Amino acid sequence: RPRVLSGIQPTADSFHLGNYLGAVRQWVAMQETHEAFYCVVDLHAITVNPAPEELRRRTRIAAAQLFAVGLDPERCTVFVQSHVREHTELAWMLSCQTGMGEAARMTQFKDKAAKYGESAAGVGLFTYPILMAADILLYQADQVPVGVDQKQHLELTRDLAQRFNSRFGQTFKVPNPYILKEVEKITDLQEPTAKMSKSSSSPQGILDVLEQPGPLRKKVMRAVTDTGTEVLADEENKPGVTNLLRIQSALSGTPIPELEARYAGQGYGTFKKDVAELVVDTFTPIRERTEKLLADEAELDKLLAAGAERAREVARETMAEVRERMGFLPTS
Ligand code: TYM
Repeated sequence: RPRVLSGIQPTADSFHLGNYLGAVRQWVAMQETHEAFYCVVDLHAITVNPAPEELRRRTRIAAAQLFAVGLDPERCTVFVQSHVREHTELAWMLSCQTGMGEAARMTQFKDKAAKYGESAAGVGLFTYPILMAADILLYQADQVPVGVDQKQHLELTRDLAQRFNSRFGQTFKVPNPYILKEVEKITDLQEPTAKMSKSSSSPQGILDVLEQPGPLRKKVMRAVTDTGTEVLADEENKPGVTNLLRIQSALSGTPIPELEARYAGQGYGTFKKDVAELVVDTFTPIRERTEKLLADEAELDKLLAAGAERAREVARETMAEVRERMGFLPTS
């Protein structure tokens, strides 16, 4: 079975629709076809300095949501990144293989640095993609299911794997991104040309998985649509309608042309109402299962401990090889 690894940050009190459609839903599908490792990347989350209590809460919420969407501990390995020390160890070794210029070209860093101010941005934000490369390479992943915003980080990961292999001998599998075109970038409901994002969207622009039906419906009904009345996919002239069509198509499995035909001559109202119901019907069971899982922290922590145990086995093996190849003396 090919391997897959992916990660998600615990930086909000809920995943949003972009995380769900762009990534997590593929994770669920891939547990059936791949040997799958999925992690809550708490070490990445500290690049923006959360309060300890907040990090703890959000890490558990993220993990609970992963089980709630259908990741099954019998079929895949779900764990918390910081539980497997090898991630930070490999990140250091890879950082010594990364050029300053190469890291400085990462557009996500440039965006974030611009937001915080060049000198206020932490070094962790700068080296963030190297830690992500370590996450992936440790598990010898063949495929990495992500949204398109992670594509550049995947290219860096591939470059680092190839560089390491040619310098020290074949060690790492060179991973491929797995990006589904139709859902690679779900956009903000209020600003339909921008990515739906926990860090930059207003609450009105985001649909949170753990949100109640009332607010979800309201937000979809108030989503910015475009002038005109036709429900048609047209990225250029109708980005708002196009985003909603993509959402409806992905959630219902109905191709976009079929949806366009269904709403022909009906205006936006019925269409939006249907999208809203679909979102509510998708999210409600996930929210209920998440709440149940969060009610028993001891049990949740036990699932994560078991996941970490399995992840560690693979990570240790890779790290032993990395140390040997780089010339570190063996430890007892
Ligand atoms: P994060 O936590 O920001 O997002 C988790 C996943 O959701 C995808 N995503 C989207 N997809 C479509 N449309 C959107 N609007 C949207 N917003 C987010 C992201 O592309 C991602 O797949 N650096 C990563 C976390 C990470 C990781 C890894 C991923 C750390 N190590 C190793 C893969 C492999 C991140 O910040 O994702």
